Amino acid sequence: MSWTLITSLVVITLGCADAYNIESPNTLCFPEHFSFGVATAAYQIEGAWNVSGKGESIWDRYTHDKPERIFSRQNGDVTTDSYHLYKDDVSMLVQLGVQHYRFSISWPRILPSGLSNEVNEDGIRYYLELLTELNNHGITPIVTMYHWDLPQALQDLGGWTNPTIADYFVDYARVLFDNFGSRAKTWLTFNEPMSFCHDGYGGNDAPGARSSGFEDYMCAHHVLRAHGMVYRMYRDEYADKIDYVGITLDFSWLEPATTSEDDQKAAEIARQFYMGWYAHPIFSKTGDYPPIMRERVDAISKLQHFPRSRLPRFTPEEVKMIRGSADFLGLNHYTTYLISKNKGKISLLPSFEEDMGGIISQKKEWPKSNSTWLKVVPWGFRKSLNWVRLEYDNPKVFITENGMSLERGLKDSRRINYLDGYLKSLLMAMAKDKCRVYGYTYWSLLDNFEWTRGFSERFGLYDVDYESPNKTRTPRSSAHYFKELAQTRCIPAWNYTT
Ligand code: NOJ
Repeated sequence: MSWTLITSLVVITLGCADAYNIESPNTLCFPEHFSFGVATAAYQIEGAWNVSGKGESIWDRYTHDKPERIFSRQNGDVTTDSYHLYKDDVSMLVQLGVQHYRFSISWPRILPSGLSNEVNEDGIRYYLELLTELNNHGITPIVTMYHWDLPQALQDLGGWTNPTIADYFVDYARVLFDNFGSRAKTWLTFNEPMSFCHDGYGGNDAPGARSSGFEDYMCAHHVLRAHGMVYRMYRDEYADKIDYVGITLDFSWLEPATTSEDDQKAAEIARQFYMGWYAHPIFSKTGDYPPIMRERVDAISKLQHFPRSRLPRFTPEEVKMIRGSADFLGLNHYTTYLISKNKGKISLLPSFEEDMGGIISQKKEWPKSNSTWLKVVPWGFRKSLNWVRLEYDNPKVFITENGMSLERGLKDSRRINYLDGYLKSLLMAMAKDKCRVYGYTYWSLLDNFEWTRGFSERFGLYDVDYESPNKTRTPRSSAHYFKELAQTRCIPAWNYTT
């Protein structure tokens, strides 16, 4: 069985499930048509935050108005300046020999006020040129519509907590399909809604609403509606132009902290809250939120004296519209956490964590990265993939992010070690467990603006010298490793010293 991604110039046939070469540890190979690529996102790399008609995004506003919430008061005003230097980025992709490039489009660069009555022609020009450059080099674009940079004008109307936003997102998607559909055939509606709803509306990312257990639920609700509506529009009106529409969800593995029944149960509930919250409505047979989530939030809302559940309800039509609304699951996986049951009394203060009822930790001895949350636990990757396989009837999966942050430096053997471990775990999930995975995307092509962590956490295969006028990009050892991986599709022996 194979799955084919077709662009105007490039055809990639993805994955014959049985064609593996994993007999000897020296020849651990992915199937012939497995696609390797790298990812970036608009706000993190483009810079040019206010040039040529671009509107303000919530990250522009947040970093400018609340600089104390960002590492060293940094922002993405210039970052790696890929708006001007995108040809350098494409040259790096060519050097790496990757099959695909995942990038995102800045909504306010296309629609400065968020609404489709005013289209910024320079924004259209910019992405058309980038797509042409990719097509000319035979690199398949995988385009994310929304990677967290909401037009500020829409946030002023409540952002993702306002039900009307789903209509505006559909209007935006239409502009994208109309303008870029001939060059980009594979699309992701959203990147990591769990992160931008929970951390943005429930926590400290833009817009910084800090209303956990409330606005994060509203955000998720309208994101899911918006996703389903765009998928249906594509199936009804753009099926002859666009090949695949999916969504990227983030799933860290959640392992019970002990073998106790309480912790086993708490870990499964946590998986339903973190992953099922978004995946169940789209990928399960029944649709809607996971039953355990509905049950817990309804009950806890009642205990907290709310007249109705803090978790909104879909209409039966919405459940149907959202169910099955993805051609594939884009999966971001980085790390693993431990879950133990929270045995404390239920607080009267609403929060997602309280509703989920688990306490999260990580093992001290797990190897560190340069991000506090990211520990190196390769086996969690295989477990995550298998959970998805069993829970959602083995959907088509494309790894849209995986990677590790380090401090500055070109010799990044610890990153190569991370890649080696995670790729082996992925390959075993595919070859032995028969998980249907069709591609792998490293985060990130180059160092970039890591949200509230500023430039302090470097994920790139390419180092960026932010002080230099042309933001000099230099390949790390891991770039050489990745090149061999992308070209041979076999996991390289990783004794690189340069
Ligand atoms: C997930 C997000 O999609 C991306 O924007 C971020 O930089 C990486 N994880 C690393 O934290």
